[in-house]
Amino acid sequence: MYRTFYNSKVSRKEIDQEVELVGWIKTIRDFGAFSFIDLRDRSGIVQLVIKNKELIKGLGNEDVITVKGIVNLREQPNLKLINGDIEVIVSELRLLSKASLTPFIIDDNTDALEDTRLKYRYLDLRRPLLQNNLKIRAKITQIVHTYLDRHDFIEIETPLLCLSTPEGARDYLVPSRVNKGSFYALPQSPQIFKQLLMIGGLERYYQVAKCLRDEDLRSDRQPEFTQIDIETSFLSQDELLEMMEGLLKEIFKEIAHYDLILPLRRLPYLEAIDIYGSDKPDTRFDLKLFDLDDLLRGHTCPFFNEHLRGFIVNNYAHKCTRKELDRLNLEAKKFLSSGLYMIKKENGEIVSSLKKFFSEEIVNRLNQNLLNEGDVLLLGYGPYMKLSMMLGAIRKMLGDELYLYDKNSFDLLWVVDFPLFEKRDDGSYTSSHHPFTRPKEECLAYLDKDPSKVLSNAYDIVINGYEAGGGSLRIYDKNIQNKVFEILGLSNEDIKRKFGFFIDAFNYGTPPHGGIAFGLERLTMILAHTDNIRDVIAFPKNLKAVDMMSNAPKSVDENQLKDLGIAVTKND
Ligand code: AMO
Repeated sequence: MYRTFYNSKVSRKEIDQEVELVGWIKTIRDFGAFSFIDLRDRSGIVQLVIKNKELIKGLGNEDVITVKGIVNLREQPNLKLINGDIEVIVSELRLLSKASLTPFIIDDNTDALEDTRLKYRYLDLRRPLLQNNLKIRAKITQIVHTYLDRHDFIEIETPLLCLSTPEGARDYLVPSRVNKGSFYALPQSPQIFKQLLMIGGLERYYQVAKCLRDEDLRSDRQPEFTQIDIETSFLSQDELLEMMEGLLKEIFKEIAHYDLILPLRRLPYLEAIDIYGSDKPDTRFDLKLFDLDDLLRGHTCPFFNEHLRGFIVNNYAHKCTRKELDRLNLEAKKFLSSGLYMIKKENGEIVSSLKKFFSEEIVNRLNQNLLNEGDVLLLGYGPYMKLSMMLGAIRKMLGDELYLYDKNSFDLLWVVDFPLFEKRDDGSYTSSHHPFTRPKEECLAYLDKDPSKVLSNAYDIVINGYEAGGGSLRIYDKNIQNKVFEILGLSNEDIKRKFGFFIDAFNYGTPPHGGIAFGLERLTMILAHTDNIRDVIAFPKNLKAVDMMSNAPKSVDENQLKDLGIAVTKND
């Protein structure tokens, strides 16, 4: 037997009792006549008191030991620990495994570089913070299983070796040895399979599904991630969203003890762009965008000849110097080369590099009608969409930097009515979500006239500015599907090659269906209050998609390549 208690579970109730404990030595502190050991296991820490120094001879941090001892009330409780009011006076101690010097100190407050932590992830995982994140993650999936089971969903696994799916990122390919020269694609999501399950009559499917996408990585994006993937038949969009809100309510209640007020707000995509400059707005703070055309266009700058939009930041004038504007412009110009401008009111005066272009009337209007003392109007000009997105990015940046919201608060909303298509610069169209997204009934007429005006039954769940999930109702009418393919510029040949089997399936009786996929990591990040996706994955890749522990991906033996009929022509 190794233990009678988890370390953090030893409490006042056990005073004067003998307990057996096990764990890693976090620290040894020597006080001459006796020493303290902080012993860590998965549950937390307990303080051991060692009076017989012989017992700890040669021991060091991260050694694994098991001890026997008597629980004692501490004279000076440690308020930071759950069980800081007790300690264990050790009578027996056994070394189970000796640890080498670890490459970094194992503590929540580590200053080790992330790549080092990823290289020794098994050590990093000993940090309570990471363990807690993984517990939150596990709790989410556990709630998902219970909730969806209660709502008649069936958990079904779908293949990993499949044909390319239409999510729009690059596929990870797997060469076939048996069929040389042919490749499977790893699924970017189970999209096609879950729709086939609906045609297969399963009606309510879910899966905690691994998805793989070869795309540029970010702090909320990994090449390998997990979706809570869901598909249903015979539900309206409202019914489906309501059911998903119920699931979110249970997750937030159980994990964060937070009561979601339902129904969640539903914000049309076009409004989201107009007000927040983002399709995943963080609405925990205001800073709403607005048009300045009426106020400034024409009578002012000669180059203000396109859309003019901006937003006001209160009490920012003293901070918003030339240098600060340059800093903001580093971000702004990633979106729009014309960048960001500033008009502020300081000591009752309008201050701006643009002032020379303004008539007196405009300056008076800015001063008297728009800006209060200390206000800064950040503005730009350009094509509506790019301009709004640029302002949205700066809005988000300042919201974070100026602490305009409570970091521990939650803000959930649906963004709905996405356009069905995105128009490329060359005038062609791509799907905003994927080609099976159902257009809104009232927009069907625009499919022929002006596809850019067609809105869809697509929705995203946005939490604290993250896209935590997304889905749509699907097309189940063959004619509409063909029309959409046509607009996407897919020839019959393309359609047959890419989705032939899938399209065939729709000939045999297709139920109206729709679904959603939540990003499990994103949900966990939000509930764990971290903005680094790697903090919620046991073994993540770094930003270059490298597993720092094993150094995968790596070249393989010539023989393996030969078996697959593959020749590598170039190594980067
Ligand atoms: P979508 O592509 O929007 O939809 O993905 C759904 C959700 O998955 C999460 N996500 C990611 N998380 C981490 N790393 C990534 N690289 C990554 N990519 C996506 C996001 C996102 O909202 N098949 C459709 C869903 C449907 O229509 O039912 C799909 O995959 O949280």
